[in-house]
Amino acid sequence: MGISIVVLAAGEGKRMRSERPKIVHPLAGTPLLAHVLDTARALSPERLVAVVGHGAEQVRSAIGEAPDLTWVTQAQRLGTGHAVAQALPALSPGSDVLVLYGDVPLIRRETLQRLVARGTGQAVTVLSFFPPDPFGYGRIERGPDGEVRRIIEQKDLDEVHHAIRECNTGMMLIAGAELPDLLDALGNDNAQREYYLTDVVGESVDRGLPVAALAVEDPDEVLGVNDQHQLAVVEAALRRRRVAALLEAGAKVYDPARIDVRGRVEVGSDVEIDVGVVLEGEVRLGDRVRIGPYCVIRDCTLEEDAVVHAHSVLEGASLGPRAQAGPFARLRPGARLEARAKVGNFVEVKQSTIGAGSKVNHLSYVGDTEMGAGVNVGAGTITCNYDGARKHRTVIEDDVFVGSDVQLVAPVRIGEGGTIGAGSTVTRDTPPHTLTLSRVPQRSVEGWQRPRKSEGKG
Ligand code: UD1
Ligand code: MG
Repeated sequence: MGISIVVLAAGEGKRMRSERPKIVHPLAGTPLLAHVLDTARALSPERLVAVVGHGAEQVRSAIGEAPDLTWVTQAQRLGTGHAVAQALPALSPGSDVLVLYGDVPLIRRETLQRLVARGTGQAVTVLSFFPPDPFGYGRIERGPDGEVRRIIEQKDLDEVHHAIRECNTGMMLIAGAELPDLLDALGNDNAQREYYLTDVVGESVDRGLPVAALAVEDPDEVLGVNDQHQLAVVEAALRRRRVAALLEAGAKVYDPARIDVRGRVEVGSDVEIDVGVVLEGEVRLGDRVRIGPYCVIRDCTLEEDAVVHAHSVLEGASLGPRAQAGPFARLRPGARLEARAKVGNFVEVKQSTIGAGSKVNHLSYVGDTEMGAGVNVGAGTITCNYDGARKHRTVIEDDVFVGSDVQLVAPVRIGEGGTIGAGSTVTRDTPPHTLTLSRVPQRSVEGWQRPRKSEGKG
């Protein structure tokens, strides 16, 4: 039988000192809770339930509704045991229940799979860890033979148990057949007057049911977020983990401490990424792609041997094989550079195709344009695509040469092999293989005197 997953997320998160509920604070660009839900989904649970309380509406709208997710509202925070009890009616009857925390976002699927495997035949299986400073955590009390006996919360700890190093991460698996009775048995006769979920351990032992604890190996996985400090620590841990995955996949990362991976990145072989690069959203980097220092790349596909030079910002763009962008290029959504195309310094491209081998090297704006192959666009060229109300398209056919400082007023089509003289404003379609000029004829005025500033004090 499969498992159900309950994610506890009703906490207020006061220490974040923020208007927003804690669990919607972004980690690597997505809400904390979304990370936990993603990991939960990777286990293919029969039911997935999130228990929310503080700012429930805000949380639900930040995360969004999904057919596989049930929201349960815990109106009063009466403890973790009470929270799970609220979720009970939404669970699939009899299935084992895995409890996760919405503010512990780095837990790995593999670890949870180990927990679930270890939990077979147990009433309760606790995920434990050994923090450098156990203060604040529930301690796992074990008997003389190492058998788990109960969990003692920090506030209920006596002298004898202070020395215990093994702590409760909060995540645990509880047998579906036992869960309703165990929850029924919970009381709140403790230091915090709360219904502790952790008491299901002692209760199981008292009933002669088997319990176990499994220690997590990587302490980063159980880092919790209660304040901005801890959020920064978790962000750094996630960054390390994602960079490690890039290195694992064979990418050369110049300085693993100076790259931010905020989305999902796929890399081919021999990819090189310089310092200060931010990768966001879905990013695909083909074989031998190189990214220079201080680039931001969001939702882009870069095919093999593409190069992005320093200080470029690419969003929703795609580069064909051996295409190049930058330094200081800005590629906006819908920008497509075909094979060997080149977009250079201070060039902005939006919703446009730059054909194979075409070059836009300096200081230009190309928007809503379809550019053929072998085109050369001179410095300072602007496609005037916007009339204040609507956007219009520019078509530049193959092998066109556009001189510097040209305005192409859309809608307009530059015929194949045509040349546009520098400084022209082109408002009508131009025929193929012609020279088009719209310059005012040059003249020189003889004997003309430049105005001078008057000398002396006047
Ligand atoms: C809990 C555990 C403790 C463990 C520690 C790990 C209990 C009684 N104690 O303690 O053994 O070492 O976590 O961090 O379980 N929550 C609700 N509703 C509630 C109460 C809590 O949804 O009524 C949620 C919180 O939002 C949070 C999680 O449950 O995500 C844990 O609650 P918290 O108050 O932080 O418990 P701790 O005292 O830290
Ligand atoms: Mg806590």
